[in-house]
This record gives sequence, C-alpha cells and structure tokens, in this order.
Amino acid sequence: MNAIDELVGAEHARAAAATGDTGAAVRRPHGARTADLVEREGLASRRVGLDVGRRFRDAGYARLDRVWGVELAAALAVDALDAADEARPPESGPRTPVTTERANLSRVPVATTPLLDALHQALAPMARTLTGRLVVPSFAVYGYFAGDDECILHYDTDASDITLLVMALGQVAPLHIHPELRGLSVDELGRLECDPSWDRQSGVPIEYSRSGLTAICGRVLPHHRPKGTLDGLSAVAALHYQAAFRPASGAADEVAR
Ligand SMILES: [Fe+2]
Repeated sequence: MNAIDELVGAEHARAAAATGDTGAAVRRPHGARTADLVEREGLASRRVGLDVGRRFRDAGYARLDRVWGVELAAALAVDALDAADEARPPESGPRTPVTTERANLSRVPVATTPLLDALHQALAPMARTLTGRLVVPSFAVYGYFAGDDECILHYDTDASDITLLVMALGQVAPLHIHPELRGLSVDELGRLECDPSWDRQSGVPIEYSRSGLTAICGRVLPHHRPKGTLDGLSAVAALHYQAAFRPASGAADEVAR
C-alpha cells in the first residue's frame, strides 16, 4: 500500500468515526475542506517554464510531475471514490464512427464534484502557459474504469484545446497517443479502430501521475488505450480547457505544431 492509499484509508476511517458509521459507504467526508486543499497548494500561481510550454506545443503532449502533494492526491482519490455511484455515461456519443460493440467501450461513466471543479479552475493559468493561448475551463470529469481500461481510438471534443489528465483513483495503463495518425478524419480513425489487424500496441505510451499532470492536445492528436484488465475501480480526472478565441481555420495546427 502506498502513502496515498494509506491516507485514503485513514480518511475513510476518520469519517466513519466522526459519523458513527461503521458501514462500508461513507459519503463525501471532505466537502469544503478539500477545496481548501487546492487553494493551499497555490496552484493558480504556480509557474511552468516556457520551455515546457514550448515542448507541449511542439509535441502535443507533456508530463508535469510533483505538481501537488500526497494530501491533495489522497483527497482526489477519496473524492473520486465517493462520486463513483453518481457516475453516468456522458450524454454525447462517441465521435469515432465504430461498430456498436466498440462504441459501447467509449461510453465511460463520468461524474464531477466541487473539488474537481476547484482543481479545474486553479489549473487554468498552467493550461494557458502550456498552450500559449487564452484557454478557459470547459468541463472536468472523473472517468471510471472497472474490469478493463480500454479506450477506443478517438479525438477529444472541440471543447478541448488542452486536456490535463490525472490518475485520481487506482491505476489504469498508459494512454497511447498517435502523432503518426494526426490529420486523419474520424471516419479513417473508425476504420482503423474496427480493423483487427491494426496494431493496438502502436503509438507513444504516456503514463498518468497521481500528484501531477499529463497534458495532451487531444483535439488534434488521436489517442487510445489498449485493452487491459483492472483490479477494482480506477478513475482518471480529465480537465478540459477551450480557447476563448479560435481562428476560423488552422486552429488545430496552432495548438500543437
Ligand atoms: Fe480523449
């Protein structure tokens, strides 16, 4: 058991003792206290080197480790766990046209919470430094995986000029991003996704952190996760930001050259 898991267990025990609840379900022990944690981390004023932003814009992805401490990481794990039974498939369907069987994989149940919203707002300056653009928070969700963590090949929505990904709860396998497929249409991605001969281990694997960020330009770079089995429940926090101003054409190239 790592330090974060120990803190999660301790937090549940503390909440159970405080409420006299000896059952398994302890709802939302944190509330405002965890939102304060985001403020205490000083994320809104955290500097990101211009060189990191340049690397993100060149490659379309970047990883920033140790952005916050184990206390906030543990709070995110508890928060994701407590919101799990409110998770529902997103209302909008997959953008990649695939068979019904593959499309069902893309309907990852999602939920959001005040803590996630606080983190989303606090990281907006960092998202602006990375993109070099005036991006604003568009939406933030925990996406839940149980049994397996496969994601079909897809682009993120138009509301995602940058997505900051965090391993909130448990552990999913690395995401595979595909610079080599950049520029393909969603129909072409769909044909690849449904092609059994397509190498599902292809792409650049990038890992998520529990106390840091994996930033991707998912509207421009196709990405997927190969099929893998999971023990227990895992949740990935996805914080999406959208450019406040977007040129009528060529916007995608401007974000990740
Ligand atoms: Fe995505």
